Amino acid sequence: MSSIKLAISGKGGVGKTTLAANLSYIFAKEGYSVTAIDCDSSINLPSALGVNNVTPLSSLRKIIEERVKMPFGVFRYNPKVDDIIERYSAKNEFGIKVVVLGTIEKGGEGCFCPESAFLRAVLRHAIFNEDVLILDMEAGIEHLGRGTAKGVDILVAVVEPGMRSIETLRRIEKLSRDIGIDKIGVVVNKYINNESADKIIKIVEKDYELLGIIPYDLKLIEADMNEIPPYKVCNLKPFEKIKDKLVKMVE
Ligand SMILES: Nc1ncnc2c1ncn2[C@@H]1O[C@H](COP(=O)(O)OP(=O)(O)O)[C@@H](O)[C@H]1O
Ligand SMILES: [Mg+2]
Repeated sequence: MSSIKLAISGKGGVGKTTLAANLSYIFAKEGYSVTAIDCDSSINLPSALGVNNVTPLSSLRKIIEERVKMPFGVFRYNPKVDDIIERYSAKNEFGIKVVVLGTIEKGGEGCFCPESAFLRAVLRHAIFNEDVLILDMEAGIEHLGRGTAKGVDILVAVVEPGMRSIETLRRIEKLSRDIGIDKIGVVVNKYINNESADKIIKIVEKDYELLGIIPYDLKLIEADMNEIPPYKVCNLKPFEKIKDKLVKMVE
């Protein structure tokens, strides 16, 4: 495998950040250079990867101003951003580069404010230049424009046993297809051996590529309670299997 670019999405609380952190860890342990970007407005990825004080890129007002704005209120579509990840990422103890996009005061769908132009440019640059790239996204994937989406190998949607997360999955599928992502894989998380969970698995298997099933793991609750990265305490086996499947999908 030379490179893999993943965007992780799903309903709030299903386990996106947990999956993003564990996959980042597994790839890093195998010797890959990993960049993990928190694209969620509730910023959780740095602590899940054991770092703090990562500057949200959206707060770089002066840099954004200098690089995006041109005279007469025109924005540069391709601002210079090739130094941004190096300068504003934090490296964790396994060498994973952690980046936080941060939030923008939004002017609605397809916002063309300078912040959004800047963040998209950073994502585009990361997608075409980093080795292993893991994007921890919300259910809305509007950070990905068409240009960026082209570079995403697989959209990984996380669901939990519950129809609401399936509803969200269907919406994510539509959004992804609209911007040109055609490979979608689904992870069923928080699995408890019972009928409703099996129903969810059947639905996923019927309509999607099932990447793997992660059991409900009390160690993950504990890790979050104690602010410990999930990979330090949980059973990594199911995550390793998912990683293997993802790698096969891009080959
Ligand atoms: N397999 C699991 N078993 C038990 N708890 C889990 C599991 N996966 C995630 N969690 C817990 O669920 C909560 C939400 O997970 P998180 O990864 O932050 O979700 P998201 O990023 O989708 O909002 C956290 O407290 C996390 O520890
Ligand atoms: Mg999260």
